[in-house]
Formats: sequence, structure tokens, C-alpha cells
Amino acid sequence: MLTYTKKDVTKIRLASMLASEVLEMIEPYIKPTIATGEIDALCFKYITNILKATPACLGYYGFPKSICVSINEVVCHGIPKYNHIVKEGDIVNIDVAVLKEGFYGDTSKMFYAGEAAANSKELCIVVQESLYLAIRSIKPGIRLRTIGKDIQAYVEDKNYSVVKEYCGHGIGSKFHEEPQIPHYNTYDNGVLLKEDMAFTIEPMINAGESYTYVEKDGWSVKTKDHSLSAQYEHTILVTKDGCEIMSLRAEEPLSKHIHNL
Ligand code: MF3
Ligand code: CO
Ligand code: CO
Repeated sequence: MLTYTKKDVTKIRLASMLASEVLEMIEPYIKPTIATGEIDALCFKYITNILKATPACLGYYGFPKSICVSINEVVCHGIPKYNHIVKEGDIVNIDVAVLKEGFYGDTSKMFYAGEAAANSKELCIVVQESLYLAIRSIKPGIRLRTIGKDIQAYVEDKNYSVVKEYCGHGIGSKFHEEPQIPHYNTYDNGVLLKEDMAFTIEPMINAGESYTYVEKDGWSVKTKDHSLSAQYEHTILVTKDGCEIMSLRAEEPLSKHIHNL
């Protein structure tokens, strides 16, 4: 995994902050009756006109829109559409990645449309907590696989399952870099974390079985058993004594600099 110079880190931080700002901007719009295509259009305008940045998803391997909107049993990579209307009780993941001054930031969170059912909220809360738990373990010298091992143990204890087909990733001058960051236990990953490495953690967790399939649109990933799925994502920098949550939002209960030594 690449480590970055302090100057490059400044730019990854900027891109990550801008991506998190998009999630803050869009929050009041995530309500029943909005179309996912309208959510995308609002994000596109904000990213290009206000942030003067580029939506990283747009055109990425042919992805047709600026953000991913993944609702209920959609695990990730949902394509926004004008005929897909958000309805009461939906759990909605918005995943935003931006390119600014040659560097990327990538983050996502769950929104409740109106009042969500207790089981839907519980899933989302557990996924966010699994991300926070991994963040609280990150520091130089730990093995990369600690991240997935901790996330899997935590969510399986709640009877949820970890999606194996999609992982976190190194990030910086490329949107997706080596290595992959699995959200489950692996036995073969010898990477040791070092200061100034940057990567995402983005657990996708299902209420039922872990298996997924890709829709006929070639992008939308769904749970095979049509159970609910939730995801949260942050772009993380390894620091001298822990990590920095580069895409932290103001509403979150953590501080930007996490001291784990
Ligand atoms: N933002 C996603 C991630 O977290 C990637 C989306 S790629 C797209 O890595 F092409 F589907 F937009
Ligand atoms: Co990502
Ligand atoms: Co993302």
C-alpha cells in the first residue's frame, strides 16, 4: 500500500472533507417522494458548481451517475433514477466520492426516509458501530486483517452477515488502489499498517445471508435472499498514534483524530 507525502495527504484530506460535505448537504432531501435521480442531480450540482470538484463515480468503468444510491436490499452501486421514488421507511445509502486537485475522497452513510422500522434502524446502527470499532483499533504496526476480523466478529455476534465480494480499498491519487480491505477475517494478509497510509473502510452488512448478485443493469448489487443491507464508509489516514477520520461529519460522535496508542 502506498504511503503518501504530507503534501499529498493534505489533498486526500481536502477531497474527503468535500465528499463528507455532500452527505451533509443532501441530508434534508432524503425523504419519501424524492426520486433517487433527483438526489443524484442535487449532488452533481453541488460537487461541480459549489465544491469545484469532480464526481468520481461518474463514468467510472461506465457508471452513469455521480453518486451511488442503494436502498433496502441493495447492497451497493445502486444507480440513481428519476422513476425510483424513495418511500416511507426506506433505508438509503448515499455513497459519494470526489476528485479534487488530483486526489480522491470516498464516504457513505445510511439515511432513514421518514420513520424506519426498528429492525432497519438496528441494522444501520450496528454497521456504523462496526466501522467505529475498526477505526478505534487502527494504528501503525497492526495487521490489516485486524480490521475485517473485528468487524466480522462484531456483526456476526448480532446475527448479521458480512458481504465478502466487495471490500474497502487504498485511496489517494487513484480512486481504488491496492490493497483491498476485507471486512471479514482472512488468514493470508500480512500487510502491516504504517503512518501516512490512506484507505477506506466500508462494511456492507446484511440482515440475512451474505450472498449477493448483480442486477441486469450491470451495477446494482442486491442480497440474494432480499434481506436488508446497510453500509457506512470513511476514508482513513494512519497517523503516528492512531488514525484520522478524513471524511468525518460534524454530526458524528467521534473526533477526527483517534489516538489508539
Ligand atoms: N464509492 C464506491 C466505493 O466505495 C465505488 C463506486 S464505483 C461506481 O468504493 F462506479 F459504482 F460508482
Ligand atoms: Co470506497
Ligand atoms: Co464509496
